[in-house]
Amino acid sequence: MPYSFCASIALVFALALVLAGTCTQPVSGHQHHRHAFSPSLESIVALPTLSINSVPIAVREGWMRRANAALAELASPCTFSAFASVIVNHTASDAGELVCIGVNSNVNTGPYKFTPKQAQAAFADLSLYTNAESCPMCASAIRWSGFREYIYGTSIATLISLGWAQIRIPSIDVFERSFDLPNPSRLIAGVLTNETDPFFSWQFDPSAPCPAGCARVGATCRLVEAAGGA
Ligand SMILES: *[C@@H]1O[C@H](CO)[C@@H](O)[C@H](O)[C@H]1NC(C)=O
Ligand SMILES: *[C@@H]1O[C@H](CO)[C@@H](O)[C@H](O)[C@H]1NC(C)=O
Repeated sequence: MPYSFCASIALVFALALVLAGTCTQPVSGHQHHRHAFSPSLESIVALPTLSINSVPIAVREGWMRRANAALAELASPCTFSAFASVIVNHTASDAGELVCIGVNSNVNTGPYKFTPKQAQAAFADLSLYTNAESCPMCASAIRWSGFREYIYGTSIATLISLGWAQIRIPSIDVFERSFDLPNPSRLIAGVLTNETDPFFSWQFDPSAPCPAGCARVGATCRLVEAAGGA
């Protein structure tokens, strides 16, 4: 029976959750040693303006905008949990081909119908663009899946400063500790944050502007129905 591609990813995420339960290990004993050894380099990621894997930043920004646009397409630009993703095949071309889009609501859509096994094999070709840094559980799933690239906009640090409850483990920490896993993933952070941050800025700040297409109704932002004609 065919699964949608994004549903398959959800399956992998669920699998990673189970694995996470069986692979936790004490780290406190290693902490001291690790920090005695270039701690600053381990947490550095490439500047968000570079052409990593020969994909120009303008192309990546275009795909990040596509992730933001998925909110309006599949939910609303002022949906509270404004987390949205696109999966792109950059091995087909630097410009990339859309594989699927998804938002934080089990709603997902795309042209691909893969079995979980086919999906697993496909991850090594694919790039996951997400408008905010994944929680450590999803970052783990991304690593277990063996995505070729993982590109995010708004960071966990920014989400925390904006009032979001977060588990304070950045994706780079998950990646840094995942080198035994096959299919290394390239992590690209902070792409187009000037356009992703506004989707996460209004929820806990009544003075913050709403995302485009939305307006304040008391403490919340609501969709403004488009008036017919310009
Ligand atoms: C990605 O593109 C490559 C090159 O065109 C192709 O071989 C591969 O099947 C594609 N993968 C997916 C999942 O679309
Ligand atoms: C956000 O920054 C990019 C450059 O990284 C720029 O092209 C884009 O126009 C900016 N977006 C807005 C809404 O200012």
